[in-house]
Amino acid sequence: MRLLIIGGTGKTGRKIIEQGLTQGHQITAIVRKPRKLKIDNPSLSIVKGNVLIPKSIEDSFKGQDAVLSALGHKRFFIKTTILSRGTKNIINAMRKNRVNRFICITSLGINDSKFKLGLYYTLFTIPVILFFYFLDKSKQEQLIMGSNLDWTIVRPGQLTNGKLRTNYHHGTKVGHYLITKMISRASVAHFMLSQLTGTNKYQKAVCITNQKIIF
Ligand SMILES: NC(=O)c1ccc[n+]([C@@H]2O[C@H](COP(=O)([O-])OP(=O)(O)OC[C@H]3O[C@@H](n4cnc5c(N)ncnc54)[C@H](OP(=O)(O)O)[C@@H]3O)[C@@H](O)[C@H]2O)c1
Repeated sequence: MRLLIIGGTGKTGRKIIEQGLTQGHQITAIVRKPRKLKIDNPSLSIVKGNVLIPKSIEDSFKGQDAVLSALGHKRFFIKTTILSRGTKNIINAMRKNRVNRFICITSLGINDSKFKLGLYYTLFTIPVILFFYFLDKSKQEQLIMGSNLDWTIVRPGQLTNGKLRTNYHHGTKVGHYLITKMISRASVAHFMLSQLTGTNKYQKAVCITNQKIIF
């Protein structure tokens, strides 16, 4: 398939690109700093773009079968709209270019998965550190849900750089009110790519964590 990846220079986005190439997909990566990607593969096209600047991204959506987003940032303590504005621009570019399939990472703990990232996140990390980030992620989800695209929202538990394990838990009931469940970025990438084939239902928010409980 022809896949457009957003956030490819990030830790999860890179895993999506690497695994996508291994699976034989034709990949276009929109990145702000092309030199950062350092993946040389004839099936990978790298396009310099910024999701906050529609003109810099729109042309790359032409002819794509699906868009996979691992957009994120680390500006936690200030009120930002990077995720929601960026996602709005992605959705508009998809509509313009008649691309319907959208798979996007948000996080466990957002909207109807509230409190399911464990007690520590619920009482400390989200209200103190990630308050604005989660507010923006919540808006991001609302935009996707209201888009009429064939979307899948992927809500991972705490991300790790561990290796790919394919025996992860996924579904609407995944997560825990007391314990923070984790998942490797490689496993999240694997799950996102697995959503491109088979009989997966669209317009669903899916939570994903490891089976093993880590306190
Ligand atoms: N960390 C956790 O425990 C956790 C848990 C659940 C969910 N998540 C979510 O999972 C997602 C992926 O996480 P990660 O750690 O892999 O993220 P990451 O390493 O921070 O990567 C984020 C990517 O987004 C790109 N980006 C940011 N602003 C952009 C813009 N304006 N235009 C284009 N690209 C832009 C970054 O590009 P640059 O390289 O140019 O900066 C980078 O490639 C994030 O949404 C994160 O919030 C994280």
